[in-house]
Amino acid sequence: MAHLSEAAVKQITEICDRYADEKTPLMMILSDIQREYGYIPLEVQELVSDKTGIPVAEIYGVVTFYSFFSLQPKGKYVIGCCLGTACYVKGAQQVIDKFSEILGIKAGETTADGLFTIDALRCIGACGIAPAVSINGKVYPKVSVNAVSGIVDEYKAKEN
Ligand code: FES
Repeated sequence: MAHLSEAAVKQITEICDRYADEKTPLMMILSDIQREYGYIPLEVQELVSDKTGIPVAEIYGVVTFYSFFSLQPKGKYVIGCCLGTACYVKGAQQVIDKFSEILGIKAGETTADGLFTIDALRCIGACGIAPAVSINGKVYPKVSVNAVSGIVDEYKAKEN
């Protein structure tokens, strides 16, 4: 665990201990780690494997299968662009492309200043207001390409 700080090891161990009595604790453990630690890199997966006896390969499989889990630290503001069918037919691809152009990153990447991550999502259950974008839980309805720079500026302004 060379790369993990003592505090991180303690935090991950506590999360694993929470579900020590569960028969199938992996999803619960990984969900808590994602929420509380922010991401699930390989060193964390190895620690979870040590604590639970679940093979790293199985943990890695789960972490990479679900887009909710992340191997990389995410930005302060996670821009979730829905690319589900309803959003797609209303121009969601152009919307996510505009976020990429303005921020200089692709979907799944984080800006160098750590402020923004772009995530491509499947349906987020807001098809009636497609195309929908969700930023840290706040949902933006019927987002047009022209609205994208204003949305980015809204978050940049919070940093000034
Ligand atoms: S397809 Fe985008 S919210 Fe359903």
